[in-house]
Amino acid sequence: MASRDSASSGDPFASIRAGTLTHLRKHGCHCYPFFDGSLLGVIAGAARALRIVELGTALGYTACWFAHGAPDARIDTIDFDPEHVRLARTNIEAAGFAKRVTLHEGAFDDVLPKLKPGYDVGFFDGFDPTLRNLKELRTLLRPGGVLITTNLNFGSEARSYRERLSDSKQWRTTFAAEDGRTAISIKI
Ligand SMILES: C[S@@+](CC[C@H](N)C(=O)[O-])C[C@H]1O[C@@H](n2cnc3c(N)ncnc32)[C@H](O)[C@@H]1O
Repeated sequence: MASRDSASSGDPFASIRAGTLTHLRKHGCHCYPFFDGSLLGVIAGAARALRIVELGTALGYTACWFAHGAPDARIDTIDFDPEHVRLARTNIEAAGFAKRVTLHEGAFDDVLPKLKPGYDVGFFDGFDPTLRNLKELRTLLRPGGVLITTNLNFGSEARSYRERLSDSKQWRTTFAAEDGRTAISIKI
């Protein structure tokens, strides 16, 4: 699972992260990996998560961190790029998480309505967050569940998305991560 490089960096999945950067440079597919998977692992572990839903698998870096940080959790992760799903499957299997991580190949809007509510943690890491994504993630999360949203500086709906997360009747939110580009919210 861990290469010598990843062991020295303290990130057991650093080789998947590095592989994702190599892949995107070759293919220009903009699948930038999250800046530090350990934040996700710690949040999922602190929440004692049993069910996690992830939007944007890329090559499996963050799915592996969720599985590592929350050892009792099952993770549903979604991506519409068949090559990403293929590479992620290989990486997730090699990391030993194949039994707990389900890869759904398809668009977020098609897959999310098919999932059963009651998730402890939701993670949006697609290209640009939409209000539809937010509505569906809110439906899927249990009260008290944690939503992590990246890329809040991208897309035409990011501003409205931030405003919704700032509604204290619905969410308790901090924009502390990644200079405010990533929000961490609790569903009220
Ligand atoms: C930023 S990357 C995810 C990075 C990954 N979480 C990590 O840290 O390694 C975004 C991924 O979302 C996928 N994606 C973007 N929009 C999507 C959509 N509407 N439906 C399904 N997958 C989508 C892309 O194919 C890409 O692999």
